[in-house]
Amino acid sequence: MSIAVCPGSFDPITYGHVDVIKRAATMFDSVIVAVSTNSAKRYMFTDAERVQLAREALAAAGVEAEVELVGGLIAEFAAERGAAAIVKGLRGTADYDAEVAMALLNRHLTGVETVFVMGDPALNHIASSFTKEIAAYGGNIDDLVPANVACAIRGKVKK
Ligand code: PNS
Repeated sequence: MSIAVCPGSFDPITYGHVDVIKRAATMFDSVIVAVSTNSAKRYMFTDAERVQLAREALAAAGVEAEVELVGGLIAEFAAERGAAAIVKGLRGTADYDAEVAMALLNRHLTGVETVFVMGDPALNHIASSFTKEIAAYGGNIDDLVPANVACAIRGKVKK
């Protein structure tokens, strides 16, 4: 039974994330989406909201994956679960530079390997941060994030 861990902030999950998680599900027997924390970031959504939005979005897209909140190191979580690999999506060279360091550090910590997946090029421009900014200025985000997420972002920016 091969397990993949797909970690990220998911603040919130986008169509780009859904695409990568879907691809991971075709390569591994099961996928755990690890909603985690990047200590350098400030989040729009709480831990519980990020988990809930990801669960709803994946269910709506028909993608089979567990979603869990992970408070500690991703490398330790992956090792505890006996994961075959961490799976991450790459959109381009900027992602690559940041992700290589993380992949090597995670392997240094527990020996866990990271597998990189190229997402759908049509979704390459999507990023959670830009989606939130577009919504804050009243722009249309319907093609960037699943419907439940678009609704939740609009709710936050209205406040
Ligand atoms: O979606 P993001 O913000 O690029 O995801 C980054 C994330 C949350 C996956 C990364 O910050 C992370 O793995 N955080 C958990 C703590 C950890 O394991 N840190 C060491 C990374 S080498």
